[in-house]
Amino acid sequence: MTKLIAVLAGDGIGPEVTAEAVRVLQATGLDLAFEEAPVGGQGYRQTGRPLPPETLALARRADAVLFGAVGDPEFDALERRLRPEAAILGIRREMATFANLRPAKLFKGLEDASALRPEVAGAIDLLIVRELNGDVYFGEKGFRTSPAGHRQGYDVMSYDEAEVRRIAAVGFDAARRRRGKLCSVDKANVLETSQLWRDVVSAMAAEYPDVELTHLYVDNAAMQLVRDPGQFDVIVTGNLFGDILSDQASMCVGSIGLLPSASLDANGKGMYEPIHGSAPDIAGQGKANPCAAILSAAMLLRFSLGEGEAADRIEAAVARAIAGGARTGDLGGTLSTTAMADAVLREM
Ligand code: NAD
Ligand code: IPM
Ligand code: MN
Repeated sequence: MTKLIAVLAGDGIGPEVTAEAVRVLQATGLDLAFEEAPVGGQGYRQTGRPLPPETLALARRADAVLFGAVGDPEFDALERRLRPEAAILGIRREMATFANLRPAKLFKGLEDASALRPEVAGAIDLLIVRELNGDVYFGEKGFRTSPAGHRQGYDVMSYDEAEVRRIAAVGFDAARRRRGKLCSVDKANVLETSQLWRDVVSAMAAEYPDVELTHLYVDNAAMQLVRDPGQFDVIVTGNLFGDILSDQASMCVGSIGLLPSASLDANGKGMYEPIHGSAPDIAGQGKANPCAAILSAAMLLRFSLGEGEAADRIEAAVARAIAGGARTGDLGGTLSTTAMADAVLREM
């Protein structure tokens, strides 16, 4: 039966890298149908809303969502609910994709592209499990007047224990399937939200005697990630810390243009997107690295369509293309977005 993939390409380099990911999906020979819909700044321009209801309906109806990126400096002054970013936050919440998996592994041949020493970078094979539906992102927020009469901005950070439990379970399960190590990252020395997080995760350890659980404060975790990233197997953390640590992890393996992600709901339905944004500084120039989008498409096949073999083929093709010297500008090379995808396609 034909599987329907909703393609929400969005802004900036979103459409450029998503087009290449679609090309790679088509090359698998699987029975896939693609339907596009506007989102982000593109959605706002066309309909006055960053997440048009028809786009959300398509995302719900589809077997999986392939997402590009949203964000456009042109819209940064709009009220928050109309900005492009409202689309991605809205769709994550509406689809209840609470579990964001962000793997980072060094590709052979990219030791020189990492911001770290080759022998340090070479040890990287980690998975960041980022909570995606809660935290300070979704708490009450606004502007008010402080007691001293100053304009004040505020954003409430909170997690309830059910939210922590369900994401921690994803982290424990992932560790169980990998090398058996789970590191929970929080800021429990300062934040009550984090204290609750740590209490809940600690209490769950008894259900996973085969997983070695450790805790780090987020500041230390950021430091350890560049000091000795090979120590990490699975990292589980909240929405904000996971956002920051995953961009950091990307440079440890060479480029933000390499890291894919899967955002899954409780039933395995998902949205798939690179961890990077719309990159306005290089948009429209055919320079963006499409690998993060292509690897996101591989995750889509594996997690939402049960096509693990095709996913393996795509991932192996990306690895071979890179090992063979294919490089976009972010990796110190000269290939265009399309030429990089061509190199991957040749290896499939
Ligand atoms: P960004 O990730 O878009 O770009 C950061 C830097 O990395 C830029 O120098 C960019 O050129 C480079 N880069 C990113 N992706 C690349 C790729 N595939 N190949 C080569 N280089 C790449 O982050 P930013 O500049 O902070 O944000 C730009 C816009 O994107 C903002 O509006 C932001 O809100 C939005 N954003 C969206 C998402 C998303 O849709 N998931 C994620 C992050 C940022
Ligand atoms: C990401 C992005 C988003 C986030 C923004 C654009 C809302 O940075 O997907 O990593 O913070 O989650
Ligand atoms: Mn981010």
